[in-house]
Amino acid sequence: MAAAVISPTAPESPSPKTMVLAGAQWGDEGKGKVVDFLINHHKFDVVARFQGGHNAGHTVIVNGHKYIFRLLPSGTATPHAVNVIGNGCVVNVEHFFEELAINKIPELFPDWASRFKMSDRAQLIFKVHAEVDAANEQERGKKMKLGTTLNGIGPAYVNKAARNGLRVGDLLGNFNIFTKRYLAINDFWQRTYPDIEVDTTAEILCLELLRERLKDLNIVCDTSLYLHRAIKSGLKVFFEGAQGVMLDLDHGNYPVATSNNTTSGGACTGLGVPIRSVGDVVGVVKAYQTRYGRAPGPFPTEQLNDVGRRIITEGGEVSVYESWLDRRVGWLDLFLLRSSAIVNGFTCFALTKIDIFDKFDEIKVGIGYTKNGVPLEAPPVCNKDFDDIRVEYATLPGWLSDTTTIRDYAELPQKAKDFVEYVEKYVGVPVKYVSVGPERDAVIVR
Ligand code: GTP
Repeated sequence: MAAAVISPTAPESPSPKTMVLAGAQWGDEGKGKVVDFLINHHKFDVVARFQGGHNAGHTVIVNGHKYIFRLLPSGTATPHAVNVIGNGCVVNVEHFFEELAINKIPELFPDWASRFKMSDRAQLIFKVHAEVDAANEQERGKKMKLGTTLNGIGPAYVNKAARNGLRVGDLLGNFNIFTKRYLAINDFWQRTYPDIEVDTTAEILCLELLRERLKDLNIVCDTSLYLHRAIKSGLKVFFEGAQGVMLDLDHGNYPVATSNNTTSGGACTGLGVPIRSVGDVVGVVKAYQTRYGRAPGPFPTEQLNDVGRRIITEGGEVSVYESWLDRRVGWLDLFLLRSSAIVNGFTCFALTKIDIFDKFDEIKVGIGYTKNGVPLEAPPVCNKDFDDIRVEYATLPGWLSDTTTIRDYAELPQKAKDFVEYVEKYVGVPVKYVSVGPERDAVIVR
């Protein structure tokens, strides 16, 4: 099957005022590194996370120092950037302080709090949420597990949708009212999961202390209003997504999805910014694909063979969560990527980890699905319908040379360029950035 030719969408502006970034696959595409590069390259003033919680795992390496950001926006290690945790996020306040400490943010950036904002509308995560997450996964059994991080993210979003959740602003308000509603949340879950145990007295004491620490920082505010003013005054704002668009609650492989909207549209609802303020939309695409080890769900190009093992080894595909299994891996699926591009309106791609293929003789990319001999127009919606899918592949020759020190596209081996250009031609979205290593500067800008 020949690669379909679609005319590229609008090209990225030379100096974007706002930019949304979303992982174009199942997460772990290397977003942390790309965000860090883009905010420094385009000199963004503000970095705003629009969804998720401490279930992300963005790796940012600057001057040999490795930061792992889960809840913190990836601009936290960028001295000039203001970082925002938006209303679409879920916040475990205890974790927030731990993550700052683990990454040594207060020591390395003594002014960090003066350039940090947390939405008063962001939902809170409590111990009961993590307990429910674990009980829920246990109940689903091995085959039906969602593969969550067990951090309580999903159950906190359940309380948000059930309209009985508590928000950061509530924690800073009347503490008696807060405590009553906190206990009601615990009762709500206890009715469904009578066996779970939470020491609510201890947690209330802890929350009271965290509340004071948060108040002292003076970072909690109406971040939508802050962003409105920032954009109006001409500041450049970056909207940072986590996980990946194929894990989106509506557009991903439901129910093996995350509990919120990871697609680019989530930036508007998750930050309270209007659609017309969204400029460029960058999709981060890894040169191959991964799904984290514990997650079931469709993966048509998965390689349960030597190729898969080689990608895991060369690509260092182990999770930032120590207890996780190696990731599931496979060839880049352009057929899926094209449908992801439709939903997200990507104006360009950042293609990461092409260096992992430096020693590969040949590289495959999925270019179509057939079922019972009939070519499909689009990937199936229901996971069950992925059964018996046959993937059609294009095989591209490897370039068999080191790309990690290359910074100029012209110097990239022709076969590596052919790979990059095949991706953009097939999907109809230009590849603007090619990442050739984990360091901030290991990027080729086209
Ligand atoms: P999630 O939001 O949890 O999905 O994380 P993520 O998309 O930020 O990805 P993660 O940090 O889990 O994985 C990326 C890994 O690849 C990190 O160890 C990065 O340092 C590394 N990395 C990123 N880009 C490149 C690249 O172009 N080449 C190589 N070799 N490594 C890269």
